[in-house]
Amino acid sequence: MNPSQKTPLKIGMIGLGTVGQGTYKLIQRLPQLEVVAVAVQNLEKERGIDDLDTSLLTLDAHAVAVHPDIDILIEVAGGVEGTKELLEAAIQAGKHVVTANKALIAQHGTELFALAKKHDVSLLFEAAVAGGVPIVTPLKMGLASNQIEEIAGILNGTTNYILTRMMQDGWTYEDALDKAKALGYAEADPSSDVEGFDAAYKIAILAGLATGHWVNVKDMTVEGITPITPREVDYAKQFGYTIRLVALARLKNERPDVRVHPMLVPNEHPLSSVHNEYNAIWVRGDAVGDAMFSGKGAGELPTASSVMGDVLAIVADLEAGNAKTAVGMVLDLKEPAVLQPIGETTNRYYIRMTTADEPGVLAALGTAFGNAGVSLESFLQLPNPQNNPHTSLMVVTHIAQESSVQEALSAIRSLASTQAVDCVLRVL
Ligand SMILES: NC(=O)c1ccc[n+]([C@@H]2O[C@H](COP(=O)([O-])OP(=O)(O)OC[C@H]3O[C@@H](n4cnc5c(N)ncnc54)[C@H](OP(=O)(O)O)[C@@H]3O)[C@@H](O)[C@H]2O)c1
Repeated sequence: MNPSQKTPLKIGMIGLGTVGQGTYKLIQRLPQLEVVAVAVQNLEKERGIDDLDTSLLTLDAHAVAVHPDIDILIEVAGGVEGTKELLEAAIQAGKHVVTANKALIAQHGTELFALAKKHDVSLLFEAAVAGGVPIVTPLKMGLASNQIEEIAGILNGTTNYILTRMMQDGWTYEDALDKAKALGYAEADPSSDVEGFDAAYKIAILAGLATGHWVNVKDMTVEGITPITPREVDYAKQFGYTIRLVALARLKNERPDVRVHPMLVPNEHPLSSVHNEYNAIWVRGDAVGDAMFSGKGAGELPTASSVMGDVLAIVADLEAGNAKTAVGMVLDLKEPAVLQPIGETTNRYYIRMTTADEPGVLAALGTAFGNAGVSLESFLQLPNPQNNPHTSLMVVTHIAQESSVQEALSAIRSLASTQAVDCVLRVL
């Protein structure tokens, strides 16, 4: 396209669901852009757009991807393998691509970036991580001079809503999940959210951006929130913590430590005050120090806002002669990162146990922790007024290696006085 002509840039879209409808509405505000084709799966479906030109709708997504008139393809359909083929076809046809698809970028980003580079087009994905919160572009641009040492994120609004309701209202996990579904925060099948994989795709993308190495989600430890009970939430409060599903990337070592699991977040940490469906990313850079980005991690217009940020970056680059500024540049991810095995990671731990309420138990527990080289920071025994033969004990450890804690726990489980190790959570 010749920028001097000032004719609107032509946009093709694949998907007109939640994010697609928001994106279409934002494009309608911008005279420099024109949607020329939109692929959907059902032509009859009601769309929440007042003056939608239904003649643009088609079932042929491939035809949109390679449409001769379009300059930019916006992919807001979701899916991985079939969608990858559509994006490849678009890139090979010389289209710039904007996607909100975290699963696709986390699993096939490296191949797609290489293809985009070969064909001299942009492939941008701000909306794939934390919906409306700008974090991909800040990592590429504003923080580019930093060595990023650590990223800790609340990257899944569904689980954060569930944990907030359990924490603030004492709801069960099941009740909170039902409410999240009713409010449209959780999908009918919420497994990718509650089992941690949605957050894992996102932290893998951020760790890749920060290190320049592709991070494979299959190499990460990913644990979800289903084991969290109202009882644990209550005990965490007593210790001065909030439970959150944390996506963590510790990047100072040669082998990055990247994982997702529930954590006890100290009440004074900024992530503890991120409630409901909100997302937040806390970043520590060697120059900037600590920085926090937060906002709506999902939803029609917040996510569309990020999609359109990428589209407008491409528009600016095209107006400058396909310049590929820092935003528009294609990532060049090097060979996969070798991650630190979970056993070698270091954390503080919260451990709740049910043990016999009798003399000598504390000494035996102390010996089990001590033999494994794990020292204890705090300890709480709940009152046992009814002289129940068993009691609940909670400890928080100092920083210890995961394998040492597991060694201590296996010794504790074999003690005759131990009824159960009920819960083990890492502490941020
Ligand atoms: N929802 C959010 O808040 C959010 C936030 C961040 C990122 N994302 C990402 O954005 C993408 C879209 O999410 P969404 O929530 O907007 O999904 P959605 O509401 O389910 O919409 C998907 C849209 O894609 C269309 N579609 C699906 N497969 C297609 C195909 N093969 N060919 C043509 N059209 C196809 C569907 O058509 P029909 O309408 O005809 O069925 C629908 O319009 C996903 O990658 C998601 O991970 C979503």
